[in-house]
Amino acid sequence: MSEKLEDIARALVAPGKGILAADESTSTIKKRFDTINLASTEETRRDYREMLFRATDGMKNHVSGVILYDETIRQNAKDGTPLVDIMKAAGAIPGIKVDTGAKPLAGPTSKVETITEGLDGLRERFAEYYKLGARFAKWRAVITIADGCPTWNCVKANAHALARYAALAQEANIVPIVEPEVLMDGAHASHDIDECYRVTEWTLRTVFRELYDARVRLEGMVLKPNMIIAGQKCAKQASAAEVAEKTIKCLKETVPAAVPGIAFLSGGQSDEAATEHLSLMNAAGPLPWTLTFSYGRALQAAAIKTWGGKSENVAAGQRAFVHRAKMNGLAALGKWSQ
Ligand code: 13P
Repeated sequence: MSEKLEDIARALVAPGKGILAADESTSTIKKRFDTINLASTEETRRDYREMLFRATDGMKNHVSGVILYDETIRQNAKDGTPLVDIMKAAGAIPGIKVDTGAKPLAGPTSKVETITEGLDGLRERFAEYYKLGARFAKWRAVITIADGCPTWNCVKANAHALARYAALAQEANIVPIVEPEVLMDGAHASHDIDECYRVTEWTLRTVFRELYDARVRLEGMVLKPNMIIAGQKCAKQASAAEVAEKTIKCLKETVPAAVPGIAFLSGGQSDEAATEHLSLMNAAGPLPWTLTFSYGRALQAAAIKTWGGKSENVAAGQRAFVHRAKMNGLAALGKWSQ
C-alpha cells in the first residue's frame, strides 16, 4: 500500500467503503456499555473491539479504515495478535484519535463552549503512533448552538487548533481527518435546520481559511463534518430530502474540490436516518468529492445491543455490525433503499 498522503486519503474514501469510528474514549465507551449493563474494563473493551475487527468479510467489503483510541492501538487480541494486525489483515487502515478531549473554553461562555485540547507534545505522539501503524488520525472540534453561541472566539479557536493538528499530522506522514462537529443535540428551541446550516457554513469557512494559513495540503486530508440537520429538541424537523439537499449545498459553498473525500459523523441520528441521508446525497451526484461515512454510533449501536457482553453472542453481534456497514456501503454509492 502506498505511503503517500494523497493515496491514503483516497483509499479511506474508496467507492462503497467508509470508516469505522471505534475511538470512543474510556469514559464514552463506558456510557455505551452502561446501556447493556456491562462493566467497562480493559478486557471487555478488548473483547468488544476484537469482535468488530474480526468480522473479516464485512470489514473487507465495506470498511476502509478504523479510528482507534490510544488504548486499542496498543492492545492485543485474546490470542495475543495485535488488534492492529487483525484489522490490517481485513484490509482496513489503522487510524488514531489524537485529541485529548473538548474542555471548557475560558471566558463568558465557559459553561457551554469547549476548546479541543491535545496540541502539546503532538509531534512526538504522532511519531509514536506512526510506529504503531497509524496512517491517519482524527481530531474532533465541538461547536454548540445555544443562546448567543457559538461565539466567534469558539469557532476561531477550534478552527485554529484543527489546522495546527492537521499540519502536524501531514508532517508525520499521517492523513488528518478534520472534524468540526456542530452538535445536533443542542437544547435551543430555535435550532432548526437553517440555524444548523448557518453555523456549519461559518465553521467550515473558518476551518478552510485556517487550513490554508497552516499550508495544509487539501489533497491529503479527509473532512468529517456533521450533516445539516435540525437540533434534536427542535419541534420543526426537516425531511430526509431537505437534509440531503441542504447538506450538499452547504458543502459545495465551503469545501474545495481538492479535498478527496468527506466522511460524515452520525452525531446521534438513528442508524437508518444516517444511512438514508448519505444515500440520498450520493444519489443526487455527481459531486466534487466522494461522500461516505465515518460513523461511530450509527455503525455500532445494534452490534453492542446484540452482543450484550456475552461470548455466545459474538457471531450475532458481528452480523449486526456487518449489516449496518453493508447498508452504509450501499449508501456511499447512492444505492441504499429501504
Ligand atoms: P458518531 O458517528 O457516533 O457521531 O461518532 C463519530 C465520531 O467519530 C465522533 O467524533
